[in-house]
Amino acid sequence: MDNRCIGVFDSGLGGLTCVKEIMKILPNENIVYFGDTGRVPYGTRSAETLIKYTVSDIRFLKQFNPKLIVIACGTASATALDVVKNKFDVNIMGVVVPSASAAAAATKNGRIGVIGTSRSINSGKYEQTLKSIDKGFKVFSKACPMFVPLVENGYLDAKVTYMIAEEYLAPLISAKVDTIILGCTHYPLIKKVIGDIVGESVTLIDSGKEVARQIRFEIESGKVEAAGEHSGNRFYISDRVESFTDMAEMFLETKIEGEVEKIDIEKYMV
Ligand code: DGL
Repeated sequence: MDNRCIGVFDSGLGGLTCVKEIMKILPNENIVYFGDTGRVPYGTRSAETLIKYTVSDIRFLKQFNPKLIVIACGTASATALDVVKNKFDVNIMGVVVPSASAAAAATKNGRIGVIGTSRSINSGKYEQTLKSIDKGFKVFSKACPMFVPLVENGYLDAKVTYMIAEEYLAPLISAKVDTIILGCTHYPLIKKVIGDIVGESVTLIDSGKEVARQIRFEIESGKVEAAGEHSGNRFYISDRVESFTDMAEMFLETKIEGEVEKIDIEKYMV
């Protein structure tokens, strides 16, 4: 048994969709979450800045001696994981490979849509990963930059969210995709809106869920040791605590146990 924590981070609230799934299927695990609420959004940053942010987020979580660090952010996973993974002596997992693998298994017509932040889509990482699984896949990518601010502000099924989603998703509907990767961990919060627009026949891949399943797989296959008991999760953020807690509970669909603490992430920059 290994009771050390799993460190999870995102630019803000989105990674909590991943925490929720880990809590659901691996309830014994102890999670330390860092939401970089002071520097959100990540999706509009340059690759260079993203890599620096990712390094500081990992340096912060490393203090807790985690057995695994999860980059629960499509943007940081797509841009920075390959660069940073060999710089640290800790197992680091991103969301791109688990979601691409799930999409590859789900598609029947080989036409896969990917939606994410501008940075994730411009990185081409989802497309590249899907094509490395099967080069015959036809991948249609669409940046949806308005989704993160809508989610962060609680517009989860508002009229405006439907209007914007209709515009973003129209090219994927025309391309007749049968599977769409929600390539940003904020998007599961508006899954109903997306599902209503694209229709039931399209499978939506939730990256938080897929990464949680990947952790369970790694535990079952002995690559990561399971925790013997749950001693509590901890939440850290880099900006105001007050505005975080209510929204976080909405993402987690449960009360946050214990304190949410604000930290100075700049101290972890190199
Ligand atoms: N939740 C993040 C992602 O999965 C990014 C949102 C943002 O900070 O732009 O890409």
